[in-house]
Amino acid sequence: MPKISKEGWKIYKNVFDEFTIKTIFKLITQGYFEGLTSPCKIGKESNVFLAKKNNEQLIVKIYRLESCNFNKMYDYIKSDPRYSKLKKQRRKVIFSWVQREYRNLLKAREAINVPTPYTFINNVLVMEMIGDDEPALQLKDLIPENLESFFNKTLDAVKKLYKTGIVHADLSEFNILNYNEKPYFIDFSQGTSVKDQRAEELMERDIWNLCRFFRRYGLELNTEEILKKIKS
Ligand SMILES: Nc1ncnc2c1ncn2[C@@H]1O[C@H](COP(=O)(O)OP(=O)(O)OP(=O)(O)O)[C@@H](O)[C@H]1O
Ligand SMILES: [Mg+2]
Repeated sequence: MPKISKEGWKIYKNVFDEFTIKTIFKLITQGYFEGLTSPCKIGKESNVFLAKKNNEQLIVKIYRLESCNFNKMYDYIKSDPRYSKLKKQRRKVIFSWVQREYRNLLKAREAINVPTPYTFINNVLVMEMIGDDEPALQLKDLIPENLESFFNKTLDAVKKLYKTGIVHADLSEFNILNYNEKPYFIDFSQGTSVKDQRAEELMERDIWNLCRFFRRYGLELNTEEILKKIKS
């Protein structure tokens, strides 16, 4: 185990459960990063941190193993031995999301701009940070200077992604970063194979979400026509 100060432990212990701390230290021992430097975003299901490796900044996405809701819901059966089985099953589901996100990123990377995934263990995913000194802003917080050009690039990325066999399935102004006026897609845990029977429906939903956002900022878009074009 790498050396860590008492204060360091305290910080980790306040934020993470023991299992997650062990996973983080495994990654440190394996040399993926030197330590977490600062929190970046607290999401619904995950906490995103910045980490340092040499002079590079990385992103460490940590899925929470026990959400508040889960704890509340299952408080009353905590003493029941079957609870431990349930807990294990829940963890397995979370681990499979992480693996799915890693694999989707790896594949998407062949075709479009996404963060390069470096590795994952259990509920923790390590990837490239998009941005220079700071993480790039989400599209919702940095409106492109040329909306039309950005929209076209985004649509192009959706098409290319589809060709490589993936539908993002949670695409919105939250999961697109605006880095140097180019779209970078992130948050691929819901990414779905185009072979899935719901793939087309999910892609249509992604496009509807995009159109709704860009329309709000003044672009005139006919979603039906865009969908027709994409499918042709
Ligand atoms: N590779 C990255 N580079 C820069 N910033 C990132 C990167 N990955 C995540 N972020 C930042 O962290 C935020 C949360 O990341 P992400 O969308 O992957 O998690 P989430 O929304 O919590 O996931 P979920 O929807 O699965 O709960 C992003 O909106 C973005 O601001
Ligand atoms: Mg997100």
